[in-house]
Amino acid sequence: MNLDELNKVAQAMVAPGKGILAADESSGTIKKRFDTIGVESTEDSRRDYREMLFRSTEGMRHISGVILYDETIWQKAKDGTPLVELIKKAGSIPGIKVDEGTKPLPNCPGEVVTIGLDKLADRLPKYYEQGARFAKWRAVIDIGANGIPTYTCIRANVHALARYAALCQVAQIVPIVEPEVLMDGDHDIERCATVSELVLKLTFEELYFNRVALEGIVLKPNMVISGKKSGKRAGIEEVAERTVKVLKNCVPGAVPGIAFLSGGQSDEEATAHLDAMNKIGNLPWALTFSYGRALQHAPQTTWKGKSENVAAAQRAFSHRAKMNGLAALGQWKADMEKKAA
Ligand code: 13P
Repeated sequence: MNLDELNKVAQAMVAPGKGILAADESSGTIKKRFDTIGVESTEDSRRDYREMLFRSTEGMRHISGVILYDETIWQKAKDGTPLVELIKKAGSIPGIKVDEGTKPLPNCPGEVVTIGLDKLADRLPKYYEQGARFAKWRAVIDIGANGIPTYTCIRANVHALARYAALCQVAQIVPIVEPEVLMDGDHDIERCATVSELVLKLTFEELYFNRVALEGIVLKPNMVISGKKSGKRAGIEEVAERTVKVLKNCVPGAVPGIAFLSGGQSDEEATAHLDAMNKIGNLPWALTFSYGRALQHAPQTTWKGKSENVAAAQRAFSHRAKMNGLAALGQWKADMEKKAA
């Protein structure tokens, strides 16, 4: 393992004013997204859609890295150029989602554990050869009634995360460590803060026990936020303050950067929260975005699978990428959205 090189890649992933595009939806998830815009999900339509994003010159200026799904990393653009080459030409780093989704966790009804460790050591060098310099593994922790999340669920998930991270570093690939506490429930922000803190503490404990070098990772956490169905949802400043407080208590300064998931927030909410955190300032790590839905909802609903909508969809994507790039610097203002609308 060359830690200097891993650190350089991690630093580049969280470079000032840039963030990560999560375009790694599994075939099942992208089908669900395409269903909502009336597009049939085929190998070609998935390729066309993602090619459109990677060819958005303006938008890609704000994208440091792109997380790909296995199918995409091997795909070629319509003109025969490998999609990874398009990403590199845009000045961005190709990355790969390597987890294989979730399975029910035995003895813990309603909870899941992320799988995919078995052949990971064999798969990683192939992804490196294909151009991937970072990877992603998402652990999912739900908040619910009846003692959910259980300690068993958190422990099993963070253990797998740390095993994955160690395997990545040995293969000279920067692991994005993603322990996601879901915002699907009706819980308040206090409960999210408590669970997120426990999950992050145990994540860093497992990373330590598995000898993962923190200088060579990027953390991808949820924000500390009220559940979507909560009766009293916390405002932007409170989300920003509570998220920074929890992160400062749990994430060592050796970690180069933190790139948030959007997790079901609206496009503008996700931008406003990131911006408010960066406006707090004086943070030991870079704080940026690694958004899927909050970057892609606008281009998807503009595109609708029609070639005549490509330019407008690319503008929609570029706008969101630019807004989030500004938020990563703490330089976003709400009226920038209105001007563009
Ligand atoms: P969202 O921003 O849509 O939550 O997706 C980010 C991601 O990569 C989840 O693993």
